[in-house]
Amino acid sequence: MEISEAIRQRKSIRAFKPDPVPRGTLKEIMELALRAPSWANTQPWEFAIVTGKTLEEIREAFVGKAEEHGNPDIPHPREFPEPYNTRRRALGVKVFELKRIAREDKERRKWWLLQGLRLFEAPCVIYILIDRSFCLQGDGPNVWPIFDCGLVAENIMLLAPTYGLSTIAQIQAVGYPEVLRKILGIPDSKLIVLGIAIGYPDWDDPINQLQSEREPLDSISTWYGFD
Ligand SMILES: Cc1cc2nc3c(=O)[nH]c(=O)nc-3n(C[C@H](O)[C@H](O)[C@H](O)COP(=O)(O)O)c2cc1C
Repeated sequence: MEISEAIRQRKSIRAFKPDPVPRGTLKEIMELALRAPSWANTQPWEFAIVTGKTLEEIREAFVGKAEEHGNPDIPHPREFPEPYNTRRRALGVKVFELKRIAREDKERRKWWLLQGLRLFEAPCVIYILIDRSFCLQGDGPNVWPIFDCGLVAENIMLLAPTYGLSTIAQIQAVGYPEVLRKILGIPDSKLIVLGIAIGYPDWDDPINQLQSEREPLDSISTWYGFD
């Protein structure tokens, strides 16, 4: 698949079919994704790739934690100043419209939160980990390994459509890192950055019609030195 076509096809999927993803397919995707660039080729990423009963155990444990606020190793933004809050809200409105969830319908909203914690029933998840010692240095975080993880994550997400697979990057997937540490035996020395849910999309679910918006290029770029 042409890279431009892969970019066009990639979008976040929030309803998956239960069909398992073959290990060989995942291996091909991951091996190619590792060609991502990184600061001085440090390649700070590691992966935990999970399916089957182990993933079911994680889903159940996350649902059991749903009443607690998520506390991921890489914290949520504290605030969403404008224009980011407006963009975030626009996404939420679209999601709720497609899922026919009314603002005041607390039960359905909770159900939808649980769907997120269950990784939208994806049959597989790829957790991206980095070494704590590389990320937390001195007063502030060293953000560059996290940036590098974003590059490898995008590679994974762009390669998926070639195999008929879809993905969603999910902070929800790493909201209770203590659960993941316990079930997967991940040591404290590793930070769990992000989960990428991966599987075959359920196109019958209206949520997968969602096409997120983008700001027009002209409103966010300034060009210098061109004729
Ligand atoms: C780091 C990161 C974390 C995300 N976490 C979530 C999440 O927890 N739940 C969710 O529904 N979508 C999550 N998303 C998906 C974004 O909402 C999505 O990428 C954005 O709305 C743009 O839509 P698109 O991916 O379909 O182009 C996340 C995306 C990124 C990059």
